[in-house]
Amino acid sequence: MDRPGFIDLRSDTVTRPTPDMRRAMAEAAVGDDVMGEDPTVNRLQDHAADLLGKERALFVPSGTMANLLAFVSQARPGESILLHQDAHPFHYEGGNVAVVGGLLTRPLPGAQGKVAPETLAAAVVRSGDHHLSNTTVAALENTTNRGGGACYTPDEFAALAAVTRAHGIRLHCDGARLFNAAVATGAAPADFARHCDTVCFCLSKGLGAPAGSVLAGDEATLEEAHRYRKLLGGGMRQAGVLAAAGLHALEHHVADLAEDHRRARGFRDALEARGVAFPLPSPTNIVYIAVPGAPAAAAALAEAGVRVFATGPDRLRAVFHRDVSDEDAARAAEVFSRVLLG
Ligand SMILES: Cc1ncc(COP(=O)(O)O)c(C=O)c1O
Repeated sequence: MDRPGFIDLRSDTVTRPTPDMRRAMAEAAVGDDVMGEDPTVNRLQDHAADLLGKERALFVPSGTMANLLAFVSQARPGESILLHQDAHPFHYEGGNVAVVGGLLTRPLPGAQGKVAPETLAAAVVRSGDHHLSNTTVAALENTTNRGGGACYTPDEFAALAAVTRAHGIRLHCDGARLFNAAVATGAAPADFARHCDTVCFCLSKGLGAPAGSVLAGDEATLEEAHRYRKLLGGGMRQAGVLAAAGLHALEHHVADLAEDHRRARGFRDALEARGVAFPLPSPTNIVYIAVPGAPAAAAALAEAGVRVFATGPDRLRAVFHRDVSDEDAARAAEVFSRVLLG
């Protein structure tokens, strides 16, 4: 839905390619990527593998597919995976790990969408008892979507990786917003990735590309992921047009994520000063707002020109991104305070 003057805070996925990005897409050298012959896809994959310090990276259509490939490449049917109870694959990926992978999900508790090492250790099942579903993969979300955009630090990843290593299971990072975590903590993406067997990130969220994610890891796992990508219909042909947008985003848009975080902070500060309540901290670009009757409040806000999602009966979510200016953020705070406080 597109209206002039309308501010869209539903998600950072609504970002549109800039004129420079469109130019890079139009000028991309392309080939058939299913045959491994698209030079721009190959350049993106090599660049992403370098950035993350991994042997190999694979360009895939979405974050959902990146997570799914990580799970099915590292766990066999009947095995179990550990995820936070608010994790995106647990809530919003159609139960694909069960449908496609035949995997059991063990959801874990933890503040702000983060898992503590003791919680992870206590949930691992490794047993010869055939009653049980052995755990083979644990996944961490960084930043946490339903946890309010919270970040792990590299040290926290190291402590969690010590647990997965000790139990002989694999560690995956759903880094849909890994670059937000990197910008917010001052760490490099590789500082997180070095503790994980596989890691993915999305180009299509705050980085502003129209589509695409990257999954990275060791050669053998990525070879299996490549097989599953084809099996699931994720092999794209002249995908260099999309990869060019991703390369452009990595080159030109990463630092701008700090601006999104600053605008989210300013929006929250303005509303907090007027007495609005927030159920979670907002360290990056995602702000949850506590509002009784959230679906009706979202409809009233949309009527007043600001779109957000009601993510529960008493919770709204506003996500800041590169298509929201300083003026938009200030106006959104005004509209919120008028609609919510009267
Ligand atoms: C944390 C997280 N993981 C994975 C995804 C899935 O990404 P996609 O929408 O590209 O499938 C999202 C999307 O919002 C997300 O927030």
